[in-house]
Amino acid sequence: MRRFSTLGVLSFLLLFSRTTHAEFQSTQQRGIASSSAQLPTAAFTLPFTGKIPRREVKKTALAAFRKSKKISNDTLRLDGASFESEYLVNITVGGKPFQVILDSGSSDLWVAHSNFTCLDRNDTAVPPATCDFGPAQFDPSQSATFHPFPNVTFLVRYGSGEFLSGPAGFDTIVVGGLSVTQQEIGVPDSNYFLGDGTSEGVLGLAFPGLTSVYNTTSVKNTSGANHIPYTPFFINAVAQKKLEKPYFSIALNRPTFSQQVNASFVPDLGFIAFGGIAPVPVLADAVTVAVQPYAPNADHLFVPSNASNAIFEWYTIHIDAFTFPGSEGVTTKSNNTLLDTGSPHNWLPSPVAAAFNAQWDPPAVRDEDTGLYAIDCTAKAPPFAVVVAGTSFPIDARDLVIPQKSSDGNVICVSGIGDNGPDVPGNTFILGDVFLHNVVATFNPVDVEVTLTGRVPY
Ligand SMILES: *[C@@H]1O[C@H](CO)[C@@H](O)[C@H](O)[C@H]1NC(C)=O
Ligand SMILES: *[C@@H]1O[C@H](CO)[C@@H](O)[C@H](O)[C@H]1NC(C)=O
Ligand SMILES: *[C@@H]1O[C@H](CO)[C@@H](O)[C@H](O)[C@H]1NC(C)=O
Ligand SMILES: *[C@@H]1O[C@H](CO)[C@@H](O)[C@H](O)[C@H]1NC(C)=O
Ligand SMILES: *[C@@H]1O[C@H](CO)[C@@H](O)[C@H](O)[C@H]1NC(C)=O
Ligand SMILES: *[C@@H]1O[C@H](CO)[C@@H](O)[C@H](O)[C@H]1NC(C)=O
Ligand SMILES: *[C@@H]1O[C@H](CO)[C@@H](O)[C@H](O)[C@H]1NC(C)=O
Ligand SMILES: *[C@@H]1O[C@H](CO)[C@@H](O)[C@H](O)[C@H]1NC(C)=O
Ligand SMILES: *[C@@H]1O[C@H](CO)[C@@H](O)[C@H](O)[C@H]1NC(C)=O
Ligand SMILES: *[C@@H]1O[C@H](CO)[C@@H](O)[C@H](O)[C@H]1NC(C)=O
Repeated sequence: MRRFSTLGVLSFLLLFSRTTHAEFQSTQQRGIASSSAQLPTAAFTLPFTGKIPRREVKKTALAAFRKSKKISNDTLRLDGASFESEYLVNITVGGKPFQVILDSGSSDLWVAHSNFTCLDRNDTAVPPATCDFGPAQFDPSQSATFHPFPNVTFLVRYGSGEFLSGPAGFDTIVVGGLSVTQQEIGVPDSNYFLGDGTSEGVLGLAFPGLTSVYNTTSVKNTSGANHIPYTPFFINAVAQKKLEKPYFSIALNRPTFSQQVNASFVPDLGFIAFGGIAPVPVLADAVTVAVQPYAPNADHLFVPSNASNAIFEWYTIHIDAFTFPGSEGVTTKSNNTLLDTGSPHNWLPSPVAAAFNAQWDPPAVRDEDTGLYAIDCTAKAPPFAVVVAGTSFPIDARDLVIPQKSSDGNVICVSGIGDNGPDVPGNTFILGDVFLHNVVATFNPVDVEVTLTGRVPY
């Protein structure tokens, strides 16, 4: 799920005002708001054993790892729950196990407080079951290794409209054997969360600028001025020298249509690997591109910028083009598109989404409230590819048809490409799971680059 940038307050407000997700809402549509991405629930942990060879040139190491094809202790399997919207990993916080959403589109690690108030989106208390967390919650007083961070407020807002706030602190986090001590975490106790009955928190893997702790005891007083950024889990693991290569690599497997419709929990949905490429068969094509940082423009909108004050927020990369029948007629080049495991859909500029979705047979129908395009579940998908650094990564037609349950319980299908508004300053776009099913994405937040490697079709 995309986490709003602290520096992007203005654009956030603009986007937030367009957010409508009351009617077309279901568990897997957390990110359905036109401004947004979704929350993936992540479910697998992997051990950091430090057995991976010393870092040489990153690309060489990646190639070597690819050839070895071994699943090491540094590799976790991902499970999926609730259609395909959530990729979960198992972690421990202060020794206690949790299942959390793996999210490359945000930076905080949080688990819900055991004494939480569930809120609706209007900030009104509702029964705790409404939040639909998994069974485990975190009681800081029961963790011998937890240290509170006094007089601060944790407050995270996601592109889905969800928001959670409460205390922050420090504890030992273990993800697949990778143990990080004194990791700053949020323990939100006032939560608007659209849960799935399984996920109990989020493990965010993006940059410090997107973290969500503020030097104030009042939620209302949180602002960019009292934001106290902290080092997120993965970067901290590198800083604590738990890894020799500063990257994590994600292979999200495509669930079958039937699994998406009928299975509440799908095992074996891929891997997250720390310090090496995720162990799935890949093609020779791989490109490594720089992550694009952001800075406020003259209108205080947060835009891609190479200025010296620009900071890294999301894993935003430059897209040469999106190619599909009719793509010649629209601008598809973008320097403002991020890779988000937390978003099931791709969310692209209005003209691109409109031109693509006009190509379905039978044609798609736009849903004004959500920016999604409804399609017949048996509709024929137009071919679609993402071109990065001169390499074309095609998206499998199966990824472009996303089933979801409507409010009356029927299965409906939507196009994998939704409309995230016009390509104007302050608006960002997303390549979510629809794209990520087709590549191995390797994220290096230290050298600030991303490697995309095509997967052997499966
Ligand atoms: C993985 O970890 C286990 C337990 O720590 C150890 O026994 C095993 O040898 C390790 N396997 C590899 C491939 O490193
Ligand atoms: C993750 O934790 C859940 C709940 O404890 C457990 O059922 C599941 O088997 C675990 N998955 C893995 C891959 O360890
Ligand atoms: C739980 O939270 C409520 C309200 O925030 C508070 O009044 C109550 O004392 C808390 N209970 C415990 C056991 O901490
Ligand atoms: C939130 O408030 C708006 C406007 O007052 C109202 O239309 C909507 O139904 C409320 N939503 C919930 C979940 O209470
Ligand atoms: C937190 O705030 C309280 C009340 O203002 C103050 O007494 C206390 O010293 C503060 N604690 C820290 C660690 O700043
Ligand atoms: C929080 O603000 C107070 C002043 O209000 C300052 O003394 C303190 O150092 C700040 N804490 C952090 C962690 O920035
Ligand atoms: C919040 O900000 C207002 C206005 O700046 C200030 O009067 C108030 O004391 C602050 N409250 C807290 C709890 O920091
Ligand atoms: C889902 O399960 C129902 C009931 O078992 C079955 O009728 C339906 O065909 C299944 N749908 C898919 C897409 O597999
Ligand atoms: C991003 O793209 C816009 C045009 O779409 C361009 O004006 C701007 O200079 C680009 N920014 C960077 C940092 O490349
Ligand atoms: C900004 O930096 C990126 C990555 O190095 C580069 O591709 C892009 O052309 C630069 N944009 C401008 C406007 O300099």
